[in-house]
Amino acid sequence: MKLVRFDAREALFAHAVERFVRIGAEAIRERGRFLVALSGGKTPRPLYERLATSAELDWAAVDVFWADERCVPPTDPRSNYRSAREALLDRVPIPADRIHRIAGELDPLAAADAYEIELRRVVGADGRLDLILLGIGADGHTASLFPRHQALSETDRWIVPVHALAEPPWRITMTLPLINAARHVLFLVTGAEKADAVRAVESGSPVPAGLVQPTDGTVTFLVDEEAASLLME
Ligand code: 6PG
Repeated sequence: MKLVRFDAREALFAHAVERFVRIGAEAIRERGRFLVALSGGKTPRPLYERLATSAELDWAAVDVFWADERCVPPTDPRSNYRSAREALLDRVPIPADRIHRIAGELDPLAAADAYEIELRRVVGADGRLDLILLGIGADGHTASLFPRHQALSETDRWIVPVHALAEPPWRITMTLPLINAARHVLFLVTGAEKADAVRAVESGSPVPAGLVQPTDGTVTFLVDEEAASLLME
């Protein structure tokens, strides 16, 4: 696990754009397409907005997925799809059939089953995405993998429904087998409220975000000073 600290959020998100574009361009060069899963939550929004205006990327070769979704309609303000659509996807020339939305409006199990079928159809049997963007909650959760939740022990399914002490409670999430099959995982972490979780990951505590250990890939945390404030200098 690599952790990179940034004094200013501007620099963190500028670096995130560079990594996103570099990984994407390499994937398109080597395999003809870029398979990327976006994170939910508020943290990544500045990245999506920067990508919309400054990313030199062949969007026609990009397949976009989500690491997780809330079980709400796509028009709901809590929808991770809506957030990414507004900040990025409506502003770049990505073909509609390459935006693979999780159907949050469906029954959770049906939504999870449908998404797993879509992933297997598009990505293939190895489930190997080029990049997965993730955030971390104050409790160390990532995607919608919450501490002590049975979803953490899933070994076969790539996508599962989760009922958690969160708002809204029903979510659809990628599981660790799928996340850990990625070539690159990039965490974006800002704010003092994440400092405990960052320290837990750094110290090897088994919080969900700390279980992201790609079997044949990289995992990098981009962390601002507030979120890194409990780490040893
Ligand atoms: C979600 C995310 C979740 C998020 C963290 C951090 O759907 O909310 O997948 O894992 O990344 O909770 O959220 P913030 O970026 O809003 O702090």
